[in-house]
Amino acid sequence: MTPSARRPGDGHEHPGQWAETSRCRVAGARRFGAFTALEVLAPAITREARPGQFVMVTVPGGGFLLRRPLSIFTARGDRLGLLVEARGPGSERLAAVGVGEALEVAGPLGSAFPAADLRSALLVGGGIGCAPLQFLADALGATGVVVTAAFGFRDARQARATGAFDIARLWVTTEDGSVGRRGMVTDLLAAVDVPPSTTVFCCGPAAMIAAVQRWTATEGLRGYASLEAHMACGVGACHGCVVATTRGALRVCSEGPVFPLDEVVTG
Ligand SMILES: Cc1cc2nc3c(=O)[nH]c(=O)nc-3n(C[C@H](O)[C@H](O)[C@H](O)COP(=O)(O)OP(=O)(O)OC[C@H]3O[C@@H](n4cnc5c(N)ncnc54)[C@H](O)[C@@H]3O)c2cc1C
Ligand code: FES
Repeated sequence: MTPSARRPGDGHEHPGQWAETSRCRVAGARRFGAFTALEVLAPAITREARPGQFVMVTVPGGGFLLRRPLSIFTARGDRLGLLVEARGPGSERLAAVGVGEALEVAGPLGSAFPAADLRSALLVGGGIGCAPLQFLADALGATGVVVTAAFGFRDARQARATGAFDIARLWVTTEDGSVGRRGMVTDLLAAVDVPPSTTVFCCGPAAMIAAVQRWTATEGLRGYASLEAHMACGVGACHGCVVATTRGALRVCSEGPVFPLDEVVTG
């Protein structure tokens, strides 16, 4: 175990966060179309992790200066689940790791989805943005919250990711209509019958988050969004991940990635 960043409360003007970096053995790797679901042995991380948080993962093999942020997909016992979509060289290498390899993982990092005092939750995900929602569904389901999920994918290959999820009430859309309903996931929202006390949680492309924000405002529903940004340090030090919010420019890695939906400034 080695320290990866400053400790909280170290006197810096904008305190960052600190997390151990653990060397974790890959115990499982399953492919689902464009996605790979990894299980790594990381008891120190799963013990602390809360839904919505992420980890910074070193890309193995050398040649990658920056660690890559990945959402915590599941935290079951000592197994940390990660869902990786190969988008570029770093995520391609991570998606290809095999059982028995080791990954350097720092976390858990960032803010969590508020999961207390809920009765009904609607989880809305687009593409790889679905990744943090399984851990949330697990946590909410364990406390008796009624969970409904609506996931949107580009096509059948991307929609194979649903095989990695375990959510009983799951609606799926694809843009080309090859799986589930044709269209965008946000087209589904009006059709999903949820009680007025429902809290909405979303993660995905900016246009999807903007559409969910408009819908929750119209329906008078409370919501939270998990945002993505390009990250360098992942711990609040470089300010490379700031996004506009109604509270000013905030860092996705440390004030986020989870923000109240009505605070997100959408283009
Ligand atoms: C909080 C957070 C959680 C994330 N969770 C996951 C996850 O669970 N699973 C997963 O597969 N990916 C996740 N990502 C995105 C992932 O970190 C990037 O896809 C990855 O770092 C890209 O690295 P690369 O070397 O493969 O690609 P690069 O060569 O760096 O980029 C390839 C393509 O991906 C785009 N890209 C790179 N980084 C991001 C980013 N942060 N957000 C959006 N687009 C990006 C680039 O613009 C480019 O088009 C998350 C990102 C954040 C910020
Ligand atoms: S402050 Fe460095 S990535 Fe967020």
